[in-house]
Amino acid sequence: MENFDVIQALARTALAGNPEAIEHQVTRLAERLAESGDDGSARKLRSLITRARNRQAVEPINLQPSDIATAPPTAQRLGPKTALPVDRESGAPLCEVLAPDRRRALPVLPVHAQAAYDSLVREWQHEAELAQVGLPISRTLLIYGPPGTGKTTLALAIAARLGRPAVIARLDGLISSLLGNTARNLGALFDFCNRYDCVLILDEFDAVAKIRDDANEVGEIKRVVNALLQNLDKRTEFGLTIAVTNHEKLLDSAVWRRFEHQIQLGMPTYEGRVEIGHLLLDRLEEVDPLAKTVASVTSGRSGADVRTLAMAFLKSTVLATQDIRSPVTVLREAAQATGIQGVDGLDSTDQELAKHLNEPPAALTQGELGVIFGRDRKTISRWLNPSEVKV
Ligand SMILES: Nc1ncnc2c1ncn2[C@@H]1O[C@H](COP(=O)(O)OP(=O)(O)OP(=O)(O)O)[C@@H](O)[C@H]1O
Ligand SMILES: [Mg+2]
Repeated sequence: MENFDVIQALARTALAGNPEAIEHQVTRLAERLAESGDDGSARKLRSLITRARNRQAVEPINLQPSDIATAPPTAQRLGPKTALPVDRESGAPLCEVLAPDRRRALPVLPVHAQAAYDSLVREWQHEAELAQVGLPISRTLLIYGPPGTGKTTLALAIAARLGRPAVIARLDGLISSLLGNTARNLGALFDFCNRYDCVLILDEFDAVAKIRDDANEVGEIKRVVNALLQNLDKRTEFGLTIAVTNHEKLLDSAVWRRFEHQIQLGMPTYEGRVEIGHLLLDRLEEVDPLAKTVASVTSGRSGADVRTLAMAFLKSTVLATQDIRSPVTVLREAAQATGIQGVDGLDSTDQELAKHLNEPPAALTQGELGVIFGRDRKTISRWLNPSEVKV
């Protein structure tokens, strides 16, 4: 069917309920009809647009794009029914919105990151006091670190803590769609966010930097980077903007400079892994030795790996009420089932693993090892001190 692509995009935008995008698609259809010689139909469509605009102009809800940038950040409430900005050609939304949920857990943070988080939250809680003495609160934060270290989780937790909706845009999606539309899409995204009191989360932020390697698109890429920088500058008076990246080395100084605060996340320490284990396994009776065991066998792993292993273990344990297998056996199966390869020590024999867990940092007692391995103390003692038993 002729013009089906436009009709499909029109249907999609209509269902998403975004008046601006719908108008754009109707205009496209009118242009196509005019090009094919059907001037009458094109005219009818254009007059529909004109009538709709006139009607909107008398409605208080109508906010022209030029007003948007200067509107105070609290001008409108971002709710579940708010129409999201979309890519004009495909009709695909440019972001998703999550309502603030105070139950959203903060990831386990290293000391410096916890301090940075606390100071940001404190500033926002005392915005009025700071404003009285002419001090603006921080509005830009860059979170960086390797995959699975809790970056996105932290960004969402900050939005929830500040009681603001989170507008999440994955920059890789925004860019890969159609490079030529990226600058415009970025503008639409930022204009949308500047209308509301919200936290804008730019996830996979390095996507902008990565495309610089594409020699075929040099001019276009410059435009995209410039658009991003301009939009960041324009947003300095609105809400909070959090950029999240795995590849901080790809970001150049012009980008770094725009972020007042930076939080680096890394692989959790042993204590951090124990804490993650505790958070997830706290419903189990022997949570402490179990969390220490999980932490010991995940040395050097990301928080996401610790979580995956602990969750798989928890599910098996909760489901198998009549289970006679020892926690260590369940943990080994969980490691295999989740595909976490070569988990530290789980491949070794029970005796070797028991020795490993008996030593610092876990330093499990013989009683605790008995629970973990489902053995009596005598057996554990023999495993730990084979020479003494022989004598
Ligand atoms: N330090 C941590 N404390 C608690 N949970 C964590 C921690 N690190 C990761 N996780 C858990 O691992 C999962 C993945 O975390 P998240 O998506 O936030 O990582 P990320 O750093 O954004 O990863 P990526 O770079 O792949 O996007 C989440 O369920 C999160 O709760
Ligand atoms: Mg992430």
